[in-house]
Amino acid sequence: MAVLIIFHLLAMFVPALGDAFIGVNIGTAVTNMPSPTEVVALLKTQGIQHVRLYDADRAMLRALANTGIRVIVSVPNDQLLGIGQSNATAAKWVERNVIDHVPSTNITAIAVGSEVLTSLPNAAPVLVSALKFLQAALVAANLDQQIKVSTPHSSFIILDSFPPSQAFFNKTWDPVMVPLLNFLQSTGSYLMLNVYPYYDFMQPNAVIPLDYALFRPLPPNKEAIDSNTMLHYTNVFDAVVDAAYFAMSYLNFTNIPILVTESGWPSKGDSSEPDATIDNANTYNSNLIRHVLNNSGTPKKPGISVSTYIYELYNEDLRTGPVSENNWGLFYANGAPVYTLHLTNAGTVFANDTTNQTFCVAKSNADTKMLQAALDWACGPGKVDCSPLLHGQPCYDPNSVAAHATYAINAYYQQMAKSAGTCDFKGVASVTTTNPSHGSCIFPGSHGKNGSSINGTSLAPSTNSTNSGCLSQNYNGGSLTSSLILTLILSVAVL
Ligand SMILES: *[C@@H]1O[C@H](CO)[C@@H](O)[C@H](O)[C@H]1NC(C)=O
Ligand SMILES: *[C@@H]1O[C@H](CO)[C@@H](O)[C@H](O)[C@H]1NC(C)=O
Ligand SMILES: *[C@@H]1O[C@H](CO)[C@@H](O)[C@H](O)[C@H]1NC(C)=O
Ligand SMILES: *[C@@H]1O[C@H](CO)[C@@H](O)[C@H](O)[C@H]1NC(C)=O
Ligand SMILES: *[C@@H]1O[C@H](CO)[C@@H](O)[C@H](O)[C@H]1NC(C)=O
Ligand SMILES: *[C@@H]1O[C@H](CO)[C@@H](O)[C@H](O)[C@H]1NC(C)=O
Ligand SMILES: *[C@@H]1O[C@H](CO)[C@@H](O)[C@H](O)[C@H]1NC(C)=O
Ligand SMILES: *[C@@H]1O[C@H](CO)[C@@H](O)[C@H](O)[C@H]1NC(C)=O
Ligand SMILES: *[C@@H]1O[C@H](CO)[C@@H](O)[C@H](O)[C@H]1NC(C)=O
Ligand SMILES: *[C@@H]1O[C@H](CO)[C@@H](O)[C@H](O)[C@H]1NC(C)=O
Repeated sequence: MAVLIIFHLLAMFVPALGDAFIGVNIGTAVTNMPSPTEVVALLKTQGIQHVRLYDADRAMLRALANTGIRVIVSVPNDQLLGIGQSNATAAKWVERNVIDHVPSTNITAIAVGSEVLTSLPNAAPVLVSALKFLQAALVAANLDQQIKVSTPHSSFIILDSFPPSQAFFNKTWDPVMVPLLNFLQSTGSYLMLNVYPYYDFMQPNAVIPLDYALFRPLPPNKEAIDSNTMLHYTNVFDAVVDAAYFAMSYLNFTNIPILVTESGWPSKGDSSEPDATIDNANTYNSNLIRHVLNNSGTPKKPGISVSTYIYELYNEDLRTGPVSENNWGLFYANGAPVYTLHLTNAGTVFANDTTNQTFCVAKSNADTKMLQAALDWACGPGKVDCSPLLHGQPCYDPNSVAAHATYAINAYYQQMAKSAGTCDFKGVASVTTTNPSHGSCIFPGSHGKNGSSINGTSLAPSTNSTNSGCLSQNYNGGSLTSSLILTLILSVAVL
C-alpha cells in the first residue's frame, strides 16, 4: 500500500510528455471499403483525432487534409527492402507520400514496416538504414521536427516480460535494437510497440486471468507484484509497456517514450477463441481508452503518457486466419458500431451515443434504380409505414427517390432496432449519426429535437403479424441474417 501511495505522489511531480491521446488504425481489407470521404466523415462524427494508415494512400491523405486529424503514414513491409537499400528511393518515398501532402494533411510520423523483426526478419539488416534514409529526407525538407520516424514492434520481441523488471529484448536482435534505440533517442522519436493482452492471454501456457487482461479489478491475492521493484500491476497492458521500458534500460536507454501503435480485442472468434466476444472487446477497449486518457502512466513511469492506437476502425472481413482476424473493428464497413463503448467521463473521443442516435441513409452516389428498389421493398415487404411520404404529408418534400428512400430505409433500420446488417440494402445505404430530419419531417430514431422523443418503432405499421426473420429472406441484401443487438450495457470497471 505504501508503495502505491508513494507512486501516486510521484505522479504529481513527474512532468508529463503531454496529454495522452487515443488514435485508431485504419486497415482496408474490407469488402465495400468505404470511400476516403466516408471514412473521414465517420472519424469526424466519432471525434477521432489520430489515425494510423498502413500505407500512404493518396486519396485517403487528401480526404484527411484540412481536418485537423493527425496521421501516421506507413512504409508497407514490401517496400522496406528498397528503401533500406537506397537513400534515393527513400527520398522519393518521402517526396511522394509526405512532402506532397503536408501541411494540409497533418502527418506526424512515418511507421517503417510492421513488426519487421518477427514477421519479415530478412529485412532486419536494412531496417535501421531505412529509418535513417527517411529521416535524412525529412531533415532535407525541414520536416524532421514535426514528423518522427520509427518502426512498430511486436511485443513478442520482449522476453521474460513478467516480472517486467527482468524483461529484455530477444538478444538475437541486439545488433538491430541497439542502433535502432540510438536512432530513436538522437532524433527525439519513440519506440512503437503493439500491445495485445489478448494474445498474451491466449498463449498456451499463459496463467493470465481474463480480468487482468481486461483491466477489471482483481482480488488482492491475484494482484501481480514485481518482487524486484515491488510495483503492483493491475493489468497486462501496463505490465507489457513496463517490460518494454525495462528492456530498453537493460540496453542503457532510459529516456525513450513509448507509443502503442496497436492494441485491441476481437469481438468474435471461432470455437478455439471463446474469449473473443462483444462483451470482452467492449470491456477491453472501453477500459483501455479510459486508462490511457487518464494520463496515469504505468507503475514504472507514473504520469508519463502512453498514447495508444486502437486496432482497429473497421472489421476487416478480407483478412485470412482465424475468425477473430475479421473482428477487431469498432465499426462495420457501413459505419454502424459493432458495440457501443462505455466512455462516461472519457472526454470527447468517440461519440457516446453511437447506437442511440444513428440513422440509415441512402449513400450520396447510390444508383437511383437500386434506391427505388430499396424504397419499394421497405414500404412493401419491409412493412414500414410510408404514409409520411404521401402527397401533403410532412416527408413528401423533397419529392425525390433518394429522399424518400432515405426515409423508408431509415424507418426499417429503426424498426429492426438498428441490428447488424439492417442498414445495407445491397450497398446503397450507410449509417450516419447526423439526424436527417428536416422541417416537420421527423425521422424515426430522432431524440427530442424539441423535447419530444420518437421511439424507433413508433412509425412501424400497426399490423402485428410481421416476423422480421421472414422478411430478411425476401430482401437478401447479403447481411440481414444476423440479428445481433448492438447495444450492450456492461458495468465498467473503475480502475
Ligand atoms: C545518398 O547518400 C549519398 C552518400 O552519402 C549522398 O551523396 C547523396 O546526396 C544521398 N542522396 C540523397 C537523395 O539523399
Ligand atoms: C499537427 O499535429 C501536431 C501534433 O499533434 C500539432 O502540434 C500541430 O498543431 C498540428 N498542426 C496543425 C496545422 O493542425
Ligand atoms: C529470438 O529470436 C529468434 C530469431 O527470430 C528466434 O529464432 C528465437 O526463437 C527467439 N527466442 C525466443 C526465446 O523467442
Ligand atoms: C550499460 O551501462 C553500464 C554502466 O555504464 C555498463 O556496465 C554496461 O555494459 C552497459 N550495457 C550495455 C548493453 O551497453
Ligand atoms: C486515474 O489516475 C489517478 C491518479 O493518477 C488514479 O488514482 C485513478 O485510479 C486513475 N483512474 C483510472 C480510471 O485509471
Ligand atoms: C461524451 O459524454 C461526455 C459526458 O457525458 C461529454 O462531455 C462529451 O462531450 C461526450 N462526447 C461526445 C463525442 O459526445
Ligand atoms: C440511450 O438513451 C437513453 C435515454 O437518453 C439512455 O437511457 C440509454 O442509456 C442510452 N443507451 C445507450 C446505449 O447509450
Ligand atoms: C417539434 O418540432 C417539429 C418540427 O420542428 C414540429 O412539427 C413539432 O410540432 C414540434 N413539437 C413540439 C411539441 O413542439
Ligand atoms: C416508447 O418507448 C418507451 C420505452 O421503450 C415506452 O415506454 C413507450 O411507451 C414508447 N412510446 C411509444 C409512443 O411507443
Ligand atoms: C397481435 O394481434 C393479435 C390479433 O390479431 C392480438 O391478439 C395481439 O394482442 C396483438 N399483439 C400485439 C403485440 O399487439
